[in-house]
Amino acid sequence: MPELSVVIVATDNEQRAVMQVLVDGTSVARTVHTCASFPVAGSDPITRRVRAANPDVTLVDIPADNPPLALRAIELLHQEMPEAAIFAIGNLNQPQIIVNAMRAGAREFIERPTTTTDLLEAFVRLTTAQRRGRQEGPRGKVYSVINAKGGNGATTVAVNLAMALQSVHGQTALVDLAPLGHAALHMNLKPVFNVADATRNLHRMDASLLESFMTRHNGGLQLLAGTNMPAAVDPSTAEFVRLFDMLVTHYRYVVVDASSRFDAASRLIASLSETVLLVACTDVASLWSAARVQQYLGETGSRERVRLVLNRFRKVPGFSESDAEAAVGAKLLWRVPNQYFAVSGAIDRGTPLMEQRNTEIARCFSGLAQELTRNDVEAKRAAWSLFKSV
Ligand SMILES: Nc1ncnc2c1ncn2[C@@H]1O[C@H](COP(=O)(O)OP(=O)(O)OP(=O)(O)O)[C@@H](O)[C@H]1O
Ligand SMILES: [Mg+2]
Repeated sequence: MPELSVVIVATDNEQRAVMQVLVDGTSVARTVHTCASFPVAGSDPITRRVRAANPDVTLVDIPADNPPLALRAIELLHQEMPEAAIFAIGNLNQPQIIVNAMRAGAREFIERPTTTTDLLEAFVRLTTAQRRGRQEGPRGKVYSVINAKGGNGATTVAVNLAMALQSVHGQTALVDLAPLGHAALHMNLKPVFNVADATRNLHRMDASLLESFMTRHNGGLQLLAGTNMPAAVDPSTAEFVRLFDMLVTHYRYVVVDASSRFDAASRLIASLSETVLLVACTDVASLWSAARVQQYLGETGSRERVRLVLNRFRKVPGFSESDAEAAVGAKLLWRVPNQYFAVSGAIDRGTPLMEQRNTEIARCFSGLAQELTRNDVEAKRAAWSLFKSV
């Protein structure tokens, strides 16, 4: 493994010194420069010195008392040196900061206090990825699906949305994070591995290992199956972030079935999502619950990402869609018709609705996928070339 050159950016003197010892202790990397303050602009001398050091990796320590400055520095360094990897070092108890660091461009989030082993593993992951030529490409998008109330239809929406995205765009993964995973049953798959195996092996995860944990549906959709034991151990925040970081580097669309999961993980997934699809029905209990779930997700900053999907939709006299939006506090994204026989038959047989082309309900899920991706460059291009060939 070639030696990696590392720049350390840390405002705390002791932390900076410790990190240098740890980096040099890995014996696969060497500190070539250290900075005692965060760069704030592309033209400032700190940025110039970091650029001149030409690092393979920049370690940015996120101080507990001022994360925004460090996050801004990560964003700036990522813009200025897109080819250099950034590893953020920080506290694992602040999920939003982990998410923001990854969004700003950090490739890894490493826990403080850091160990030589943590750093060594991260360096090895980086060089393995570089050797395979899988450098940062465009990142995929996450759509998560969560229920207002148990049984409202999150799994039905997640499975069929994922199949619709796969059939138009390919490269789609469905991740089952339900408290007890049902997605495999909906798709008549018998997974060998599930999400718990993937999180247990994150320390050595790469593209081929990730693929080996997925179960392929015959249409090409890749399922990371859910747990088949109700009391499975939950991965930590950092593990979830790393798993999703892997997923969005390898798939264009990642659909998450959170079903009726209301916990730190569902909040974290919501903040990693492009859109959170909150599935509710038009009865009082469901709309009341939807408002509570919206509030719950809003507490960790996801309010604007949440959109309402009304399942088993039928017109109720005297009750309009804007009443539903007002009751929940989220904009309506989509309506799925009430078709008990079609939906329950599809689940019982393990043949998702999307496999029954040209039915009203399959067209409904195709429309939902189209609506979610209408601003994506590739989707636009496909629509344009389709139009052109007519
Ligand atoms: N659009 C629909 N029309 C009629 N029935 C539906 C519809 N969507 C779902 N159902 C029914 O609701 C039941 C639950 O569906 P599904 O498994 O998708 O719900 P879920 O919200 O994921 O449940 P859980 O809370 O267990 O995760 C199914 O038995 C299905 O028949
Ligand atoms: Mg479910």
